[in-house]
Amino acid sequence: MADATRIPIIAANWKMYKTLPETEQFITEIAPLISQANAKILIAVPFTAIHLAAEKAQGTTLIIGAQNMNDATEGAFTGEVSAKMLRDAGAQFVLLGHSERRQYFGETNDFINRKVKRALAEGLQPLLCIGETREQRDAQETEDTLATQLNECLSDIEPSQIQHIIIAYEPVWAIGTGITATPALAQEAHHFCREYISQQWGPETASRIPLLYGGSVRPETAAQILAQNDIDGLLVGGASLDANSFAAIVNSVDQPVGSDEKH
Ligand code: PGA
Repeated sequence: MADATRIPIIAANWKMYKTLPETEQFITEIAPLISQANAKILIAVPFTAIHLAAEKAQGTTLIIGAQNMNDATEGAFTGEVSAKMLRDAGAQFVLLGHSERRQYFGETNDFINRKVKRALAEGLQPLLCIGETREQRDAQETEDTLATQLNECLSDIEPSQIQHIIIAYEPVWAIGTGITATPALAQEAHHFCREYISQQWGPETASRIPLLYGGSVRPETAAQILAQNDIDGLLVGGASLDANSFAAIVNSVDQPVGSDEKH
């Protein structure tokens, strides 16, 4: 990352993993390993674990969040959870528009845009996920896809609000596949997103907004990806489930590229 005004962010996405005892064990294990970290550390846990995780994270540097929410304030929406409920349970941020939500639950950019607005209104920090599929990349549609997702998911949001949002570029073909984007490819996509944000919402917003990379990040690949100019942090799925492996990724923030001493 090039801009010293942006603090590195390392975020975990636990997906549908971890019971309450497993949550407690993870936090107990990781807390001493990341106490010196030079990054903001976010953990998106399942709904059921938010309250316990937030309680156990007190006095540590961990920030607890959720993986989804509904766009309505409240109402007859069986099975849904509101932003206010997430705040109440102890969440400080929420993942929105993850590709698994788009792919398996039919979430559209328009729906995600309503969620982003609701999260901001309720004081929850949105972590918006965008990214192209393999087919879109092969058809040279990556930039169009990213531009459309940014434009539609962030539609009607003021520049002053946009800079409170975290964006994660996660190429769908890299999520859970073991295929990490090369640092150069990731940088290219991040640079495009920052330029696009600059055009739409101004250079000041673009220079402040944190852009994270996600997709099969491992302790071995983290430092090289983090070394790219427009990459301010990482969103980690599989490798965030183990305290040692996630701590190694968090601690790679200060690791010189090419060194494997902490691996
Ligand atoms: P992965 O998941 O690290 O397991 O590829 C990333 C994500 O889904 O956010």
